[in-house]
Amino acid sequence: MPVGALTLAGIEHAARDRLPPEIWDFIEGGSGAERTLTANREVFGHYALRPRTLVDVSACDPALTLLGAPLRIPLGIAPMAYHRLVDPEGETATARAAGAAGALLVAGMFASRTLEEIAAAATGPLWLQLYWLRRRDALTALVERAEAAGFRALVLTVDAPRIGRRLRDLRNGFAVPPTVRAVNLDETLMSASHRATDGGSGIAEHAREQFDPTLSWSDLAWLRERTRLPLVLKGVLTAEDARLAVEHGVDALLVSNHGGRQLDGALPALTALPEVVDAVPAELPVLLDGGVRTGTDVAVALALGARAVLIGRPALWGLAVDGEAGVHRVLRLLHEELDHTLALLGRPRLVDLGRDALARWPRPVG
Ligand code: FNR
Repeated sequence: MPVGALTLAGIEHAARDRLPPEIWDFIEGGSGAERTLTANREVFGHYALRPRTLVDVSACDPALTLLGAPLRIPLGIAPMAYHRLVDPEGETATARAAGAAGALLVAGMFASRTLEEIAAAATGPLWLQLYWLRRRDALTALVERAEAAGFRALVLTVDAPRIGRRLRDLRNGFAVPPTVRAVNLDETLMSASHRATDGGSGIAEHAREQFDPTLSWSDLAWLRERTRLPLVLKGVLTAEDARLAVEHGVDALLVSNHGGRQLDGALPALTALPEVVDAVPAELPVLLDGGVRTGTDVAVALALGARAVLIGRPALWGLAVDGEAGVHRVLRLLHEELDHTLALLGRPRLVDLGRDALARWPRPVG
């Protein structure tokens, strides 16, 4: 770990130095003109914090229970494909780090270690992310394996009927190297992602072949019939969809625009958060991912109603720089920063953190 990595930005720089440019671009990039990617970060700057004083902050406690699982911090790692792109161990290292930090890990359907290996390494709660495949038998098989391995929830990604136009990957003709495989899916399902195409991206071609773009609300019942696990929808950005999700019996929502990798121009995740929170019953957990890089960001998202937040890219930066220890460092830094924020904000417990903790950041004069 580089000396001076006192922030996630420091770890980001170190990761960039270490990774081949086409892998860096795959991780870091967004779709289109990357407006949503950029805005995800910028909107956190629209908020100022309203600190309360003369509050006993000797014991700040950010612990919580999320869908029945205890977490020491309101933080998790968002589902990301192929952790072995940046570290030979991949998801098992990430799982150990998340457990040690008291955080959640959402493993991706395109994980590069088996669900059973990830579960054996994990010491904290695990959820599994799914895309809706044309091959429903493959979906059923994954759900059964996840249940048997002790995963505690399913996260269905609903913002990817096809893959966003990720110009960096298209320019690089990016394809996943043959040494890194989505080992939880059979080879016939995966071959396209390793195929470098002329002026194309293997990832996008693969999604065109395998993702089912007909997925609609009525299909959720099919999935619910096949599992006892709670169902989380990832990629909801509007009050309309939040209400439909509640009507269809979803257990939690993850407000996300896929880290700016899908619809460019979509609402920044933090901007969408309040309307989603306001559209669902208070007890339904709403999570957020996209652009969270500091403990202050975590506090702002929680104040706007998120029960917990997930980080994407920063976990891969940590993994690239120092494997399990690097991911742990990322989570630890966010924990420490959040702890400081809660203390200096005079709101030592998560229940104290509401919208009254926030003000609009003043606009520049002139
Ligand atoms: C992702 N994301 C993602 N989401 C998903 O549902 N399934 C997946 O397989 C992936 N894969 C993936 C790979 C990489 C390299 C990245 C960077 C992202 C999106 C991810 O879950 C999350 O929504 C964003 O990464 C959150 O934004 P930040 O924290 O990266 O800004």
